Amino acid sequence: MNINAIREQFPILHQEINGHPLVYLDSAASSQKPRSVIDAVNRYYELDNANVHRGVHTLGSRATDAFEGARAKVAAFLNAETPEQIIFTRGTTTALNLVASSYARAVCGEGDEIVITPMEHHSNLIPWQQVAKATGATLKYIPLQPDGTISIDDVESTITPNTKVVSITHVSNVLGVVNPIKEIAAIAHRNGAVIVVDGAQSTPHKRVDVRDLNVDFYAFSGHKMCAPTGIGALYGKKALLNKMEPIEFGGEMIDFVDLYESTWKEIPYRFEGGTPIIAGAVGLGAAIDFLESIGMDEIDRHEKKLTAYAYDKLSTIEGIEIYGPKTDRVGLLTFNLGDVHPHDVATVLDSKGIAVRAGHHCCQPLMRWLNVSATARASFYLYNTEDEIDRLADALIQTKEFFGHGIE
Ligand SMILES: Cc1ncc(COP(=O)(O)O)c(C=O)c1O
Repeated sequence: MNINAIREQFPILHQEINGHPLVYLDSAASSQKPRSVIDAVNRYYELDNANVHRGVHTLGSRATDAFEGARAKVAAFLNAETPEQIIFTRGTTTALNLVASSYARAVCGEGDEIVITPMEHHSNLIPWQQVAKATGATLKYIPLQPDGTISIDDVESTITPNTKVVSITHVSNVLGVVNPIKEIAAIAHRNGAVIVVDGAQSTPHKRVDVRDLNVDFYAFSGHKMCAPTGIGALYGKKALLNKMEPIEFGGEMIDFVDLYESTWKEIPYRFEGGTPIIAGAVGLGAAIDFLESIGMDEIDRHEKKLTAYAYDKLSTIEGIEIYGPKTDRVGLLTFNLGDVHPHDVATVLDSKGIAVRAGHHCCQPLMRWLNVSATARASFYLYNTEDEIDRLADALIQTKEFFGHGIE
């Protein structure tokens, strides 16, 4: 992987912030966009823009081809059986809410269980709380091991024949933990439950094969994998999607409308009410082309090397605590520097041109489990380098010296 050639393709990276070359270490929140994605969106607006699935005119059919072409690219990227199993959404949050509101509310009732973990992002926690409240189902948690991983024994004992839905993140946005989705899917299915996967932090970094994992639903966001904001997708097994009712009603999703009754289109359209996010989908298609041109396995390898380097380098800083397992993690490090507040850490780093995240990372229950109110997080992507990790480590040492009183 030629990292310099890759960096050349990201215009935003070549600027100074507060008098220093930008070091962008916040890709887990949102990744930067390569020139090819920016150009694809511009080209769409300059040449092809029109509404989809409607007019018979040339621009309408070009826009429809571009939109449906992007759906086919997403299907191939996830190794889905067919493109109609890909529903475009605003992102992971909307995709998970669709499964919770349409599928889970219909199948859950008193005495049923929904199983999640304490490491879930609020997007994969609150929708299930709401389903439990509305249906009388019980929300259960697979406990975490001291290093933040989950054990298969705990998965076996938490999921029971009363479980209707297991929903779990593939990769934790705080701990970097990679969950054993294939094994959990097998346990869920043995108990008659479906498995829903939050893929927000996996699809940008790893090859995801929904058929090999044998998952029922898989949700992800484009903006974390080089695509524009406002676009993501939900993959679902055909038999399940075909049984689900839409949750948004209006144009594009109907078959026949009468004064008092209406019928819906087939999947995926019945879940895409209103004018869809056409330019976003075009950008997502271009992002997939870009990532595939480098290779997901190459990206994974680069980030594993970088994360191991960062773990070793940052662990030598006195007073730092890094959360999550040392190995088998995806490209991010969440940490605290003594009792220096993570917002202070992020502010000092920003003054040196280094962008990291500070806060609860939309994981308040996990923060309580870690016994902290907030952390700092440096997250890496295909464009980050070991030099940037060195700059982060040097800046953290200076931060520690600046707030010296906070470090034992
Ligand atoms: C693990 C995880 N799940 C869900 C989300 C929500 O993604 P979005 O805000 O794109 O819907 C995020 C975003 O940070 C995430 O990291």
